[in-house]
Amino acid sequence: MTKRIDDLKIIANKRLNNDFFILELASETKIPEFKPGQFAQVRVDDSTDTFLRRPISIHDVDYERNTFKLLIQVLGKGTEKLSKLSSGGILNLIYPLGNSFSLPEKGEKVLLVGGGCGIAPLLLLGRYMKMNGIVPDILLGFRNSARIIEFDTYRQIGEVYLTTEDGSKGEKGYVTNHSIFSEKKYDRICCCGPESMMKAISAYCKPRNIICEVSLENLMACGIGACLCCVVDSVKGNLCTCIDGPIFNVNDLKW
Ligand SMILES: Cc1cc2nc3c(=O)[nH]c(=O)nc-3n(C[C@H](O)[C@H](O)[C@H](O)COP(=O)(O)OP(=O)(O)OC[C@H]3O[C@@H](n4cnc5c(N)ncnc54)[C@H](O)[C@@H]3O)c2cc1C
Ligand code: FES
Repeated sequence: MTKRIDDLKIIANKRLNNDFFILELASETKIPEFKPGQFAQVRVDDSTDTFLRRPISIHDVDYERNTFKLLIQVLGKGTEKLSKLSSGGILNLIYPLGNSFSLPEKGEKVLLVGGGCGIAPLLLLGRYMKMNGIVPDILLGFRNSARIIEFDTYRQIGEVYLTTEDGSKGEKGYVTNHSIFSEKKYDRICCCGPESMMKAISAYCKPRNIICEVSLENLMACGIGACLCCVVDSVKGNLCTCIDGPIFNVNDLKW
């Protein structure tokens, strides 16, 4: 897929809570057909501290309106700066980058698991699955109820299960402790979040022969395979998260 470098118009910057916001972007030209799991390299303007672009997943797409959304967690200087952008402004992106989740066969039982900002790529994935006749279950994990975001949006694509670390909503604990894992059986689990969470999901899937794909959030610089700062040690040798990933089947990772 051809990569584009575009100035996009910010249609909206919606604050969801203290930590998360959604940027909705419009292009003057037709937006590409995004594959679920792909990301953009976002330029952070007017900042000497944030020279490098920040990788952010494509969260949602509206082809009729020719717009798409990025769901972003405020973490450091770059995302803080992005959170202050106003609608009507311009954001420069290189996109779409990376590979994508593979789509399940008809009839597969699928679970999507997201933790924190790791929920971002799973919405587009869920929409693609639903369009192809597969209704996934979705398990989302947050630190506490104040940090829960996008619950109703994810309910558009499947049944949503929740965990919070303090038990203020849903089941208490980490996603990996949720009772769904003992009560239901899945053919495929797609996952994005902290590495420890993805490793635990991988450890659940491997002995049960459940297909498991994860979206790695390694630190990146160029995003296009030139700097090798995002290399992951795989059974196929060193792979770049930005061009060979960010989506990997866990059987290919040395986890
Ligand atoms: C393929 C990909 C897709 C991503 N998609 C999203 C998304 O949809 N929404 C979202 O909110 N974030 C996403 N991220 C993470 C996002 O890129 C980082 O949070 C962001 O670059 C941090 O920039 P910053 O300037 O705010 O923080 P910095 O000042 O650069 O860093 C602040 C702190 O966060 C740590 N940090 C920075 N980047 C990461 C990272 N990738 N993983 C773990 N720790 C990190 C730094 O080491 C530092 O301690 C994605 C990352 C990748 C690689
Ligand atoms: S970020 Fe430069 S090679 Fe992947």
